[in-house]
Amino acid sequence: MVKIAPSILSADFAKLGEEIKEVESAVDYIHVDVMDGHFVPNITIGPLIVDAIRPVTDLPLDVHLMIENPEHYIQAFVDAGADIITVHQEACPHLHRVVQQIKQAGVKAGVVINPATPVESIEYVLENVDLVLVMTVNPGFGGQSFIPSGLNKIKQLFDLRSEHGYSYEIEVDGGVNQDTAKQCIDAGADVLVAGSAIFNKENRIEAIKAIKESL
Ligand code: DX5
Ligand code: ZN
Repeated sequence: MVKIAPSILSADFAKLGEEIKEVESAVDYIHVDVMDGHFVPNITIGPLIVDAIRPVTDLPLDVHLMIENPEHYIQAFVDAGADIITVHQEACPHLHRVVQQIKQAGVKAGVVINPATPVESIEYVLENVDLVLVMTVNPGFGGQSFIPSGLNKIKQLFDLRSEHGYSYEIEVDGGVNQDTAKQCIDAGADVLVAGSAIFNKENRIEAIKAIKESL
Protein backbone atom coordinates (compact mmCIF):
# COMPACT_ATOMS: atom_id res chain seq x y z
CA MET A 1 0.00 0.00 0.00
CA VAL A 2 1.40 3.36 -1.08
CA LYS A 3 1.33 6.03 1.61
CA ILE A 4 0.70 9.71 0.94
CA ALA A 5 2.21 12.42 3.13
CA PRO A 6 0.94 15.90 2.24
CA SER A 7 3.48 18.63 3.02
CA ILE A 8 1.79 21.49 4.84
CA LEU A 9 4.47 23.84 3.48
CA SER A 10 2.09 24.68 0.62
CA ALA A 11 -1.00 24.95 2.86
CA ASP A 12 -2.63 28.18 4.02
CA PHE A 13 -1.02 28.78 7.42
CA ALA A 14 -3.84 31.10 8.47
CA LYS A 15 -6.12 28.04 8.54
CA LEU A 16 -3.76 25.16 9.01
CA GLY A 17 -6.13 23.10 11.18
CA GLU A 18 -8.89 23.20 8.56
CA GLU A 19 -6.45 22.38 5.78
CA ILE A 20 -5.23 19.27 7.63
CA LYS A 21 -8.82 18.22 8.38
CA GLU A 22 -9.65 18.55 4.70
CA VAL A 23 -7.05 16.00 3.56
CA GLU A 24 -6.94 13.78 6.64
CA SER A 25 -9.23 10.98 5.45
CA ALA A 26 -7.27 10.45 2.21
CA VAL A 27 -3.69 10.41 3.50
CA ASP A 28 -1.35 8.54 5.83
CA TYR A 29 1.07 11.04 7.40
CA ILE A 30 1.18 14.82 7.76
CA HIS A 31 4.59 16.00 6.54
CA VAL A 32 5.95 19.02 8.44
CA ASP A 33 8.86 20.94 6.87
CA VAL A 34 11.04 22.68 9.45
CA MET A 35 13.60 25.15 8.01
CA ASP A 36 16.06 27.32 9.90
CA GLY A 37 17.46 29.79 7.34
CA HIS A 38 20.93 28.24 7.79
CA PHE A 39 20.84 24.66 6.53
CA VAL A 40 18.40 25.81 3.83
CA PRO A 41 17.75 29.32 2.54
CA ASN A 42 14.25 29.62 4.00
CA ILE A 43 12.64 29.85 7.43
CA THR A 44 9.39 28.07 8.22
CA ILE A 45 8.09 26.67 11.47
CA GLY A 46 9.16 25.09 14.74
CA PRO A 47 7.84 22.99 17.62
CA LEU A 48 5.13 25.57 18.40
CA ILE A 49 3.25 24.74 15.19
CA VAL A 50 3.70 20.99 15.69
CA ASP A 51 2.18 21.45 19.14
CA ALA A 52 -0.71 23.47 17.65
CA ILE A 53 -1.61 20.87 14.99
CA ARG A 54 -1.15 17.84 17.27
CA PRO A 55 -4.73 17.93 18.63
CA VAL A 56 -6.15 18.41 15.12
CA THR A 57 -5.33 14.92 13.80
CA ASP A 58 -4.51 11.39 14.87
CA LEU A 59 -2.32 10.87 11.80
CA PRO A 60 1.40 10.49 12.43
CA LEU A 61 3.26 13.81 12.21
CA ASP A 62 6.25 13.23 9.93
CA VAL A 63 8.69 16.00 10.85
CA HIS A 64 11.41 16.77 8.30
CA LEU A 65 14.14 18.81 9.99
CA MET A 66 16.06 20.98 7.50
CA ILE A 67 18.10 22.58 10.26
CA GLU A 68 21.65 22.70 11.55
CA ASN A 69 22.37 21.01 14.89
CA PRO A 70 19.09 19.07 14.89
CA GLU A 71 20.26 17.24 18.04
CA HIS A 72 19.45 20.40 20.03
CA TYR A 73 15.79 20.30 19.05
CA ILE A 74 14.81 16.60 19.08
CA GLN A 75 13.23 16.67 22.53
CA ALA A 76 11.28 19.84 21.76
CA PHE A 77 9.73 18.20 18.68
CA VAL A 78 8.98 15.00 20.60
CA ASP A 79 7.30 17.01 23.36
CA ALA A 80 5.31 18.89 20.72
CA GLY A 81 3.93 15.60 19.36
CA ALA A 82 6.13 14.47 16.45
CA ASP A 83 5.86 10.75 15.58
CA ILE A 84 8.68 10.52 13.05
CA ILE A 85 11.72 12.80 13.12
CA THR A 86 13.95 12.87 10.05
CA VAL A 87 17.37 14.53 10.01
CA HIS A 88 19.68 15.35 7.12
CA GLN A 89 22.87 13.38 6.70
CA GLU A 90 24.49 16.63 5.55
CA ALA A 91 23.62 18.35 8.86
CA CYS A 92 24.89 15.58 11.14
CA PRO A 93 28.61 14.76 11.49
CA HIS A 94 27.52 12.33 14.23
CA LEU A 95 24.54 10.90 12.39
CA HIS A 96 24.57 7.57 14.21
CA ARG A 97 24.38 9.35 17.57
CA VAL A 98 21.49 11.58 16.47
CA VAL A 99 19.55 8.55 15.17
CA GLN A 100 20.01 6.86 18.56
CA GLN A 101 18.94 10.06 20.31
CA ILE A 102 15.69 10.20 18.31
CA LYS A 103 14.90 6.57 19.07
CA GLN A 104 15.69 6.96 22.74
CA ALA A 105 13.26 9.88 22.82
CA GLY A 106 10.57 7.35 21.87
CA VAL A 107 9.73 8.24 18.26
CA LYS A 108 10.64 6.85 14.85
CA ALA A 109 13.95 7.96 13.37
CA GLY A 110 14.46 8.92 9.75
CA VAL A 111 17.48 10.00 7.74
CA VAL A 112 17.33 12.13 4.59
CA ILE A 113 19.77 12.75 1.74
CA ASN A 114 19.96 15.73 -0.61
CA PRO A 115 20.12 15.28 -4.40
CA ALA A 116 23.95 15.48 -4.39
CA THR A 117 24.39 12.98 -1.54
CA PRO A 118 24.89 9.28 -2.34
CA VAL A 119 23.14 6.39 -0.57
CA GLU A 120 26.61 5.11 0.46
CA SER A 121 26.89 8.04 2.90
CA ILE A 122 24.12 6.55 5.07
CA GLU A 123 25.02 2.89 4.57
CA TYR A 124 26.09 2.38 8.18
CA VAL A 125 22.87 3.72 9.72
CA LEU A 126 20.44 1.87 7.48
CA GLU A 127 20.05 -0.94 10.01
CA ASN A 128 19.06 1.61 12.68
CA VAL A 129 16.50 3.79 10.92
CA ASP A 130 12.73 3.52 10.49
CA LEU A 131 12.60 5.73 7.41
CA VAL A 132 14.90 6.89 4.64
CA LEU A 133 13.89 10.04 2.78
CA VAL A 134 15.24 10.71 -0.70
CA MET A 135 15.11 14.39 -1.73
CA THR A 136 14.19 14.89 -5.38
CA VAL A 137 14.61 18.68 -5.12
CA ASN A 138 17.18 20.75 -3.28
CA PRO A 139 15.36 21.43 -0.01
CA GLY A 140 14.14 24.90 0.89
CA PHE A 141 11.02 25.57 -1.14
CA GLY A 142 7.85 23.93 -2.37
CA GLY A 143 6.90 23.83 -6.04
CA GLN A 144 10.29 22.93 -7.55
CA SER A 145 10.87 20.44 -10.38
CA PHE A 146 11.55 16.77 -9.74
CA ILE A 147 15.23 15.70 -10.08
CA PRO A 148 15.10 12.20 -11.63
CA SER A 149 18.49 10.97 -10.32
CA GLY A 150 16.74 10.32 -7.00
CA LEU A 151 15.05 7.33 -8.65
CA ASN A 152 18.34 5.39 -8.73
CA LYS A 153 18.74 6.00 -5.01
CA ILE A 154 15.23 4.73 -4.30
CA LYS A 155 16.03 1.56 -6.25
CA GLN A 156 19.35 1.18 -4.41
CA LEU A 157 17.61 1.56 -1.02
CA PHE A 158 14.94 -0.94 -2.07
CA ASP A 159 17.60 -3.50 -3.04
CA LEU A 160 19.67 -2.93 0.13
CA ARG A 161 16.56 -3.44 2.24
CA SER A 162 15.77 -6.79 0.60
CA GLU A 163 19.39 -7.90 0.66
CA HIS A 164 19.94 -7.17 4.37
CA GLY A 165 16.40 -7.56 5.72
CA TYR A 166 16.22 -3.93 6.87
CA SER A 167 12.85 -2.49 7.80
CA TYR A 168 12.91 1.21 6.86
CA GLU A 169 10.23 2.83 4.77
CA ILE A 170 11.44 4.63 1.65
CA GLU A 171 9.99 8.12 1.31
CA VAL A 172 10.44 10.58 -1.56
CA ASP A 173 10.09 14.36 -1.30
CA GLY A 174 10.17 17.14 -3.87
CA GLY A 175 8.32 17.66 -7.15
CA VAL A 176 6.11 14.63 -6.59
CA ASN A 177 2.86 14.94 -8.56
CA GLN A 178 0.65 12.87 -10.85
CA ASP A 179 3.37 12.90 -13.55
CA THR A 180 6.29 11.82 -11.35
CA ALA A 181 4.70 9.66 -8.62
CA LYS A 182 4.55 6.45 -10.64
CA GLN A 183 8.29 6.42 -11.36
CA CYS A 184 8.94 6.73 -7.63
CA ILE A 185 6.66 3.85 -6.74
CA ASP A 186 8.04 1.71 -9.58
CA ALA A 187 11.56 2.36 -8.25
CA GLY A 188 10.50 1.13 -4.79
CA ALA A 189 9.20 4.11 -2.78
CA ASP A 190 6.62 3.46 -0.05
CA VAL A 191 5.70 7.03 0.94
CA LEU A 192 5.10 9.98 -1.39
CA VAL A 193 5.43 13.50 0.00
CA ALA A 194 3.51 16.08 -2.02
CA GLY A 195 3.04 19.75 -1.20
CA SER A 196 2.08 21.92 -4.14
CA ALA A 197 0.49 19.01 -6.04
CA ILE A 198 -2.10 18.81 -3.23
CA PHE A 199 -2.42 22.15 -1.45
CA ASN A 200 -2.15 24.38 -4.53
CA LYS A 201 -5.18 22.64 -6.02
CA GLU A 202 -8.76 23.80 -5.54
CA ASN A 203 -10.00 20.33 -4.59
CA ARG A 204 -7.41 18.59 -2.44
CA ILE A 205 -9.20 15.26 -2.24
CA GLU A 206 -9.41 15.14 -6.06
CA ALA A 207 -5.71 16.04 -6.24
CA ILE A 208 -4.79 13.15 -3.92
CA LYS A 209 -7.03 10.82 -5.92
CA ALA A 210 -5.31 11.93 -9.14
CA ILE A 211 -1.91 11.03 -7.67
CA LYS A 212 -3.17 7.63 -6.49
CA GLU A 213 -4.81 6.91 -9.85
CA SER A 214 -1.60 7.78 -11.70
CA LEU A 215 0.26 4.91 -10.02
C1 DX5 B 1 11.24 20.90 0.23
C2 DX5 B 1 10.36 20.25 1.28
C3 DX5 B 1 9.23 19.53 0.67
C4 DX5 B 1 8.28 20.43 -0.10
C5 DX5 B 1 7.71 19.64 -1.20
O1 DX5 B 1 12.27 21.57 0.86
O2 DX5 B 1 11.10 19.34 2.06
O3 DX5 B 1 8.54 18.71 1.60
O4 DX5 B 1 7.26 20.94 0.68
O5 DX5 B 1 6.95 20.49 -1.98
P1 DX5 B 1 6.53 20.07 -3.46
O6 DX5 B 1 5.72 18.82 -3.34
O7 DX5 B 1 5.72 21.25 -3.92
O8 DX5 B 1 7.79 19.88 -4.25
ZN1 ZN C 1 9.93 17.79 3.28
